[in-house]
Amino acid sequence: MAFVEFRDVRKIYQMGEIKVAAVDGMSFDIEQGELVVVVGPSGSGKTTLLNMLGGMDSCTSGIIRLDGRVVSEFSPKELTDYRRYDIGFVFQFYNLVQNLTALENVELAAQICRDPLPAAEVLEQVGLGHRLNNFPAQLSGGEQQRVAIARALAKNPKLLLCDEPTGALDYKTGKAILKLLQDTCNRTGRTVVLITHNSAFTAIADRVIHIKEGKVEAMEMNARPVPAETVEW
Ligand SMILES: Nc1ncnc2c1ncn2[C@@H]1O[C@H](COP(=O)(O)OP(=O)(O)OP(=O)(O)O)[C@@H](O)[C@H]1O
Ligand SMILES: [Mg+2]
Repeated sequence: MAFVEFRDVRKIYQMGEIKVAAVDGMSFDIEQGELVVVVGPSGSGKTTLLNMLGGMDSCTSGIIRLDGRVVSEFSPKELTDYRRYDIGFVFQFYNLVQNLTALENVELAAQICRDPLPAAEVLEQVGLGHRLNNFPAQLSGGEQQRVAIARALAKNPKLLLCDEPTGALDYKTGKAILKLLQDTCNRTGRTVVLITHNSAFTAIADRVIHIKEGKVEAMEMNARPVPAETVEW
């Protein structure tokens, strides 16, 4: 059994009379410790896929498993625990608490967890050991995204889910964040899923899932993922 399994997963949104199939029968597997890049054009269903995998949205039909448990059959209480203990999220626009310092943002997330990692240590690992006491407004976009990544990692999650984590960053900073995610995967063996519409990012992945119009168009494995710092786009 794979670490993550999607089996014929569908998500239909009802908008008045109209039904939108955001995810229209997706099946794929992810193995533990992989860096997975999910790539596809705008509106192809990437965020919907990630939200269902992260327990933020339910699927209309199909089966989603993580680590042997059937997420798609979880009760609301089980979903809360799942989001809290098993999943770390990183978003395009960081979503930090503005009136808390970097350290406090990470500690806040760690507080709701069973087995958190030390906040200051994780911030150090993402290169922010010298910025612990700064507020988000005093940090650059790339630094704020590092805090968001530290916040997700401090939860010690089974899965790190990142939705366009470089979308708001310039080229150089975006590249540094990609490198951080790849290093995190390689060093800690954590399973990382990264959503992007930039097909250049596929070169850094162990596994690439191509999405089109709510379906998996293709999936491939990279025998030799390239280091993130060498990717050009
Ligand atoms: N809550 C919702 N209600 C209705 N339709 C939705 C909802 N969320 C997403 N959709 C639709 O489902 C489709 C897939 O959306 P999704 O956000 O998953 O795409 P995406 O691949 O993440 O796009 P982008 O790259 O622009 O972020 C789109 O047509 C979108 O309009
Ligand atoms: Mg999206």
